[in-house]
Parts: sequence; structure tokens; C-alpha cells
Amino acid sequence: MRSLILCGFALICVVGGAPQTRADERMTLDVYYESLCPDSRNFLVNQLNPNWPTLSTFTDLRLILFGKATFLPNAEGGWSFECQHGPDECTGNILHACGIKYSPTITQALNFTTCLMDLPKNGELCAELAGLDYAPIDTCQMSIEGQDLVHDHGVETLNLEPTLYFVPWIIYNQVWDFTNQWESLTNLTAVACNNAPANTPVCSV
Ligand SMILES: *[C@@H]1O[C@H](CO)[C@@H](O)[C@H](O)[C@H]1NC(C)=O
Ligand SMILES: *[C@@H]1O[C@H](CO)[C@@H](O)[C@H](O)[C@H]1NC(C)=O
Repeated sequence: MRSLILCGFALICVVGGAPQTRADERMTLDVYYESLCPDSRNFLVNQLNPNWPTLSTFTDLRLILFGKATFLPNAEGGWSFECQHGPDECTGNILHACGIKYSPTITQALNFTTCLMDLPKNGELCAELAGLDYAPIDTCQMSIEGQDLVHDHGVETLNLEPTLYFVPWIIYNQVWDFTNQWESLTNLTAVACNNAPANTPVCSV
């Protein structure tokens, strides 16, 4: 059900339920996930990527790789990580983050990362399928640049309020909401439309 919105002449809106954007804004969707996490795979493969053609008309999406990992500075001036699903997940997080950075569009980034969820070691193939140049992605993942990217994602993840306790962690319009979190896992478009700007065409069916 759509939230009730009462807007005055000023920029102040009183919103019943989760915060909602105004008609002239886009919704933001921030997805915090891990490269080898089964629940993250389900979300990207079965919800986010297939629904993206609809969502992309009103959504600014960000993909943040870290989840329940930890980091420490390493001797090379970069970062060493420990990840929930082991060392391969840390390598994967870096590959995803580099692919996102070197994707001209978020649609290609999502295509690349979704492909990696089923083919975790196939960066080159997934880049080709997404229409991406693999060379800068590969350079990034093998250097401190990739470590720095995931470190930045990690700092952002560790600063979340409330603290992340499930992966994927899903945030609409900068505010985490319990119902949005859990319903998104099975019913993403409906939840997104509940948080969409007023009169979003694809949501008014
Ligand atoms: C990525 O895009 C290509 C080209 O449009 C398409 O063939 C492929 O199925 C997409 N992959 C995913 C995981 O969406
Ligand atoms: C998805 O959300 C819609 C709209 O809120 C609701 O009518 C529908 O029952 C939900 N489907 C599932 C599987 O939860």
C-alpha cells in the first residue's frame, strides 16, 4: 500500500510510513551485499536484475560490496580482508567493486555483478557479456586500487545505522526499514513502488 503523503508549500513533507521522495526526485536504492553470499545471489539473480528494466526508470542504484567482512591495513599500503564466506569472497568483492567502478552505466554494472553471482571466477566472460572492457577491471582487481574500493565500501557499511545484521541489506531513500528489508527479498518491485516518487508511471498499474 502506498504511504500517505501530506506536503505543504515548502519542502517539508509529512510522510506516513517509510520516507518517500517527491515527484521530481528519483528513489535511491542502496544494496549492501557479499560476492559469495547465497541470499545476495538470490536477490540479484531473482529480484534486482530481472526487475531492473522497470526499476531503472525511477531508481538511482548503488551496489556496495562488504557485508560482514573486516579489514586491516597490509604491508603493501593497501588492505587485507576477512570475509564471511572465506578468502574467495574477498577476491570476489574486489572484482565486483572494480567492475562497478569501470562500468559506464549502472545497468552494465548490475549485469556484470549478476553474472558473477553464478560464475564467480569468470570476470572476463561476464565483462564481455555486459559489454565492458575487462582490461581496467583486471588492473584494478590486481592492485591496491581494488582494495581501496572495498575498504571504502567497508567504511560505509560499518557506519550504517542501524548496524547491518543481514546480507543483502537493502535501503530505500537513505533510511533502512524493517518491512522494506524483508519484503524486498521476494517482492522487490512492489516495495520499490511503495517508496517511489509520486505518480511514477510504471508503478501506477
Ligand atoms: C547482460 O546483458 C547481455 C546483453 O544484453 C544479455 O545477453 C545477458 O543475458 C545479460 N546478463 C544478465 C545476467 O543480465
Ligand atoms: C507483493 O506486493 C503486492 C503489493 O503490495 C502484494 O499485493 C502481493 O501480495 C505481494 N506478493 C508477495 C508474493 O508477497
